[in-house]
Amino acid sequence: MAVSLTKRKYSLVGENTIAALQKGLAEATWYTSPVPKETMRTLLERRDGPAIRDTLLWFAILVGSGLAGYALWRAGSWWAVIPFMIYGVIYASTSDSRWHESGHGTAFKTNWMNNALYEIASFMVMRESVPWRWSHVRHHSDTIIVGRDPEIVWPRPPDVLGNVLGFFSLRTIPLYFRNLALHCAGRLTPEEKTYVPESEYAKVFARARICMAIYLTVLGLAAYYRSVLPLMYIGFPQLYGAWLTPIYGHTQHAGLAENVLDHRLNCRTVYMNPVNRFLYWNMNYHVEHHMFPLVPYYNLPRLHEAVKADMPTPYRNLFAAWREIVPAVLRQVKDPSYFVERKLPTPTLSPDAPAGPRIFTAKGRVVDGWVEVCVGGFLQPEDVIRFDHEGETYAVYRTAEGALFATAGLCTHGRAHLAEGFVKGRLIECPKHNGRFDFTDGSPQRKPVCVALRTFQAREHDGKIFLQLARAGIEKKDLLQPAEPTERLQTAATT
Ligand code: FES
Repeated sequence: MAVSLTKRKYSLVGENTIAALQKGLAEATWYTSPVPKETMRTLLERRDGPAIRDTLLWFAILVGSGLAGYALWRAGSWWAVIPFMIYGVIYASTSDSRWHESGHGTAFKTNWMNNALYEIASFMVMRESVPWRWSHVRHHSDTIIVGRDPEIVWPRPPDVLGNVLGFFSLRTIPLYFRNLALHCAGRLTPEEKTYVPESEYAKVFARARICMAIYLTVLGLAAYYRSVLPLMYIGFPQLYGAWLTPIYGHTQHAGLAENVLDHRLNCRTVYMNPVNRFLYWNMNYHVEHHMFPLVPYYNLPRLHEAVKADMPTPYRNLFAAWREIVPAVLRQVKDPSYFVERKLPTPTLSPDAPAGPRIFTAKGRVVDGWVEVCVGGFLQPEDVIRFDHEGETYAVYRTAEGALFATAGLCTHGRAHLAEGFVKGRLIECPKHNGRFDFTDGSPQRKPVCVALRTFQAREHDGKIFLQLARAGIEKKDLLQPAEPTERLQTAATT
């Protein structure tokens, strides 16, 4: 669809969008720190327990403070201010990190729990769940790439007043309701159209109408009872309780480099105490999160330990981060070319560290489409390896039960290597945006992936894994067929 170009520097439909595409900054390959495969396998392990515990505690504080606020308000006591301050922060600030982690699908092992928390937290933080899911996908593809990233909070020169008003959501609220009204009317902004696929439009409009109905109901209740009390629970928390969001959130990227392809240069990792880490769900490990978005929040401290030798020095605390941010953004007001340069460690890692994921190539020649990939022992249960052959890349999987499957190696969404992803059951989760495929038939199982993968037959013979390259797109029934005749595989193995 044709869109008119704008000259606004940070527009997603402007000159810098074209420039980012021409310079290869869009959907580019980013630097990742090497992590031994076995370590990464343990870091990727999903559990329901930590997020259930943290979510129950979070809801308990929310409900407890809300009830206390109600009782004291009804009693006419000014002490109601205290529980409402707690309620407001939990509702409007800490919902941000719940929105974020469940949006990645990594908070819980059980997917419906992620989806339920995502919808609730999106409403609380005043982010429409569907457009923001896609906006965040783009943010991870093109972090702080000008003309591509819709979530750049500190453009240059910075809007200092706007960001100060942001502590009370005075920018967020009008923008949120403007877009909500637009979506209720069945329209999207031109920028949203650059990252929300058309197949999602109906969902955007339906969710917007539900949200609008809730707000109108709350307003109706407030008018009926001639009291602001209903709004103290839904709506006003954004005014009086969102101040903690920017205190945490601006440490992520403010004042750092634009248009680089290394998250160590445009993200911050800030050490925080356990209370802040509970409220923020460990998003203070922001470099690590951007580099490895598959790792759930409760494993980020361990990931940090695994990669910190390859990271710039983390900030000692929130205060240390803000002591850098404030002068940096004030300087950018006068000098928009200024940014904080993060110092990378040299040498980056010990020479023993693995250089990257292992890539297998063909052993011997192809016979009747069959090619030898590797010795079977290289592919563990619930694991995936990458196999490159004649300019193509493949992913070969082994299930927990030992069955072999193979698909095209690149994600159909953003062409990330699936062999760097996470295998669970029959699913492969993409390392870039947490999209999922069923690798037994290639079907998409979680957004943002929408297009199926090509599948191939894989077999094990004589302790070696073979891949059938000639016949892509196997049917389910093929998986039930007996293994390929032994002599064919033998020939491929020995030639
Ligand atoms: Fe986006 Fe795979 S590249 S989900």
